[in-house]
Amino acid sequence: MKKIAVILVVVLNLFNGYAQKLKSPNGAFEMDFSLSKSGEPTYALYLKGKEVIKPSKLGFYIKDDKKSLVNDFELINEARGAHNEMWNPVWGEESAIKNHYNELAVTLKQKETNRKLIVRFRLFDEGLGFRYEFPEQKELIYFIIKEERTEFAMTGDHTALWIPGDYDTQEYDYTESKLSEIRSLFKSALTSNASQTQFSETGVQTSLMMKSADGLYINLHEAALINYSLMNLDLDDKNMVFKSHLTPDARGDKGHMQAPFTSPWRTIIASYDARDILASRMTLNLNDPCKLEDTSWIKPVKYVGVWWEMITGKSSWAYTDDVPSVQLGITDYAKTKPNGKHGATTKHVKELIDFAALHGFDGVLVEGWNQGWEDWFGHEKDYVFDFVSPYPDFNVVEIENYAKSKGVKMIMHHETSGSTRNYERHLDKAFRFMNDHGYDAAKTGYVGNILPLGEHHYSQSIINHYQFVIEKAADYKIMINAHEAVRPTGIYRTYPNMIGNESARGTEFQAFGGSKANHTTILPFTRLIGGPMDYTPGVFEMDIAKLNPDNNSHVNATIANQLALYVTMYSPLQMAADLPENYNRFLDAFQFIKDVPVDWSTTKYLEAEPGYYLTIARKDKNSNNWFVGNTNGYNKRSATISLDFLEKGKKYEATIYADAKDADYKTNPQAYVISNQKVTNKTKLKMTSAAGGGYAISIVEVK
Ligand code: NOJ
Ligand code: CA
Repeated sequence: MKKIAVILVVVLNLFNGYAQKLKSPNGAFEMDFSLSKSGEPTYALYLKGKEVIKPSKLGFYIKDDKKSLVNDFELINEARGAHNEMWNPVWGEESAIKNHYNELAVTLKQKETNRKLIVRFRLFDEGLGFRYEFPEQKELIYFIIKEERTEFAMTGDHTALWIPGDYDTQEYDYTESKLSEIRSLFKSALTSNASQTQFSETGVQTSLMMKSADGLYINLHEAALINYSLMNLDLDDKNMVFKSHLTPDARGDKGHMQAPFTSPWRTIIASYDARDILASRMTLNLNDPCKLEDTSWIKPVKYVGVWWEMITGKSSWAYTDDVPSVQLGITDYAKTKPNGKHGATTKHVKELIDFAALHGFDGVLVEGWNQGWEDWFGHEKDYVFDFVSPYPDFNVVEIENYAKSKGVKMIMHHETSGSTRNYERHLDKAFRFMNDHGYDAAKTGYVGNILPLGEHHYSQSIINHYQFVIEKAADYKIMINAHEAVRPTGIYRTYPNMIGNESARGTEFQAFGGSKANHTTILPFTRLIGGPMDYTPGVFEMDIAKLNPDNNSHVNATIANQLALYVTMYSPLQMAADLPENYNRFLDAFQFIKDVPVDWSTTKYLEAEPGYYLTIARKDKNSNNWFVGNTNGYNKRSATISLDFLEKGKKYEATIYADAKDADYKTNPQAYVISNQKVTNKTKLKMTSAAGGGYAISIVEVK
């Protein structure tokens, strides 16, 4: 026995100083893990023999602890495994997902302290995921993270599509630049938001999309962000090394930990073909399988709403302009004068229900239905809404009955104004109210600074708040679409009632001055890596002054582009954002929004270049019909696409919604052409997209 132990020690000592290697299932990726002479853990990643990530350090700095978990380690165990399975998401871009990886877990022991830390690596054919695991041990139980020391060392001065690192908002336009230019462009990349906190002039957010000089696409993000703070990246632009920068709490701490626990996964997806970045399901696969036993109540939703009219300033969330401030339970709305602009009136909501029923939409979202909007943000107000008290002109029961009679579901709106404590205070009551009145989905929102004061949108305890809401909602069979909450990290695999998130610059900004015309060619490579976005596309009137003469914002997109987004911006929750009166002007184009599904069995990525264009084809989950979307950046572009994804021998009728010859996102955004033609899997289509344009195609099987 003693002899075996001695041999084991000798073998394990041999590990130290040598690299542990791991290959992806197809052998294209290779990674290695090693300890330096001083016991510093590092990893590196290679694709087809070429470096993707240069040797990069791992570990943790611990608060009030001189001996941080960054060096003096020895390797005491390595465990290897492999995994290959297919699983079926409740909803998604395809009905079956492959989860295939090889695994290496190294157990490290810090010599002086005897503390143990496991680093688990999973190498997929698309890239690498790794996380830290703190096993139960008497040497380390409770501790506070001062900073996570995870590095991503780049091989060069890559081109990146980045937004400023921020503890409180993700609602920025993307900047394309070399890594070395981030510092000088940082200030110009900042736009204002109701709550924002940057930390470094080279700080950027994940998911970060990069391209190397030799054409390698590299994406950095994280998966399964649970009970931990969100990671930003801080670039050391002398050495081109990204360093993890966690979001601090109100005291400046980065995480309160208790072993055993595991960190989120750090992810690196890479390929010489940009389409592979979009096709990767690695982020999802690194999350736990579904934890909800019954998912039959979770349904993808296409919806309209009393929303765009408030965003554009045509109508208001608030009922009155008569009160300078509101105190719930004290302010008597019956005694106030209505402002005449309130959107969420019973009469108007019924019109929306009629429109939804006529055109086959599942749901109607109504914002501004509840008391408190007169001074809802900017005051860091604790008791801001109660989520159950309607304004006098919004009749909950009448609307409930009317929606039911028309076969339409009402969608609840819970703006928290950042007051997480107030939301938790009311949550059970608010969800019971929804159950009682036929609402099975809630859009939540976190505009403004977070309460408790000093906390950030992405600090650990606020991440726990969002998670608490998702899990509590599941108890009530309620689906959640969270705005301004943390960007997703694939958690919808585990909790598929999280059907939407905003967590990026959505369509609303088209009414706040506009977004860059190539924005939607970037989002699928960045924000959508973690999960679907409630982008709220479908705006047909680009001149916002037509809705509100005081708002001269312009929507930087063509109508054909807006249609394409229902395919390119994957989400099981899709809004037709514009007003019914604008859809009624373009009913032939609106037909695509009516026809397009929100759940898919297969997805094919036809073309992709982040920042420039992408073309995606998806097959409806419930029929043999296909839908194609192309979104285009600043340069007018022609390309031939092949419909070889269609089933051999089958005949189809294609309806093509394309930019007209003279269409342009700025000067002629409403010019489109609709044509029909018979197609098969041999058909090739030459398509032209305007600047800021695109196209949408529905392909229906002819029997
Ligand atoms: C910001 C959200 O993104 C938007 O959709 C919502 O209408 C407002 N907050 C008000 O809650
Ligand atoms: Ca928002």
